[in-house]
Amino acid sequence: MSRRKVLEPLDIGSIRLPNRIVFPAFQANYATKDGFVTERLTQMYEKLAQGGNGLILVGSIAVSDDGAPNTNPLRLNSDKHIPGLKELFSKIKKEGTVPGVQLMHAGRQTLSVMTGYPLVAASAIPCPVMKEMPLELDNNGIIRIQEDFASAAARAKKAGAEFIELHGAFGYLIGGFLSPFSNKRTDEYGKDKALFFTEIIEKVRKRVGNTPICCRISADEYIEGGLRLEDTRNIAKKLVDAGADVISVAAGTYASMDHMSPKLSMGIGVHVHLAKEIRNSVNAAVICSDNIRSLEFADKILSEKKADLVAICRPQVADPFFVTKSIRGEPVIECMDCGNCLYFLRGENWVSCPQNPGI
Ligand SMILES: Cc1cc2nc3c(=O)[nH]c(=O)nc-3n(C[C@H](O)[C@H](O)[C@H](O)COP(=O)(O)O)c2cc1C
Ligand code: SF4
Repeated sequence: MSRRKVLEPLDIGSIRLPNRIVFPAFQANYATKDGFVTERLTQMYEKLAQGGNGLILVGSIAVSDDGAPNTNPLRLNSDKHIPGLKELFSKIKKEGTVPGVQLMHAGRQTLSVMTGYPLVAASAIPCPVMKEMPLELDNNGIIRIQEDFASAAARAKKAGAEFIELHGAFGYLIGGFLSPFSNKRTDEYGKDKALFFTEIIEKVRKRVGNTPICCRISADEYIEGGLRLEDTRNIAKKLVDAGADVISVAAGTYASMDHMSPKLSMGIGVHVHLAKEIRNSVNAAVICSDNIRSLEFADKILSEKKADLVAICRPQVADPFFVTKSIRGEPVIECMDCGNCLYFLRGENWVSCPQNPGI
């Protein structure tokens, strides 16, 4: 079976990825309450780097306290967070893997008891799952959070991150602005629902120079009144025009959670068709994710030009050496699709995996 393409290096802007395999953002909730790197987090990422990923996206990392998605995410809202991440990134880099980050603000898809602040969103409409009423952001709030993204990106770069992903997927704050499901504004940010995001990209670009910027989006939200491919094709073009080098294609929101980390019963490569359509619409590299369970299948996606990079998450949570073992033809410890790692759905505080108890 071919694995030729997936193991090829890829040049994006200023960096060279040694292969096309990405460990995507995976909010394990393993940081300290104040968002600092812990030993447990370091061990998780060190193994994943030794496991042969081309790129690891550390995070998601909250850009501000009011944007924290859970109790213990990493944070980058202060220079104090830089040294811990610097050490972590240097350990990832030592293994030949490019260290990147995913930056996020949770918007209305969190709880004020968790953040300690009122929730904020594009419009004052509660998330159907979290059910807490957010405040509609005014212009000052918009500018403050855009600056938070830019400052967090600058700190990430200072710490050694070589790739900056901005989390516009899954209905969090940026995704909430993009979608007619959650953005009912009548001002310029409602008329052009991508404006909040494109302004963030421009502000981040000014702070990170030629470091590649990736935008993760839900190419289909799979909800009535939400984003469909015909919308996200145009959105992706606007993001690239604003300076994005890479688009990462995901799907779903909290209201369509089965698409965020889809069960295997939804199909292998369940969202590959979305990645392909976005790739055909933009002049940028595209990351494809969701139920990519073997390097052979990953290679097929890339060889058929449906994406440029593949994100493989749960198979690497179950076995951080999934990539190297697959290359050597050794058996991997398989993800059983048990859903245990989706800790928040079970009322647990952080990730655990029966296949990888040491994670
Ligand atoms: C526990 C858990 C936490 C996740 N956290 C994030 C996150 O912070 N940001 C993000 O963009 N995706 C997140 N994801 C989604 C993954 O990046 C990935 O897109 C998804 O699991 C599908 O890929 P897979 O089939 O290879 O697991 C998370 C997934 C899981 C299981
Ligand atoms: S907890 Fe279950 S679904 Fe999650 S990675 Fe481990 S085996 Fe897979």
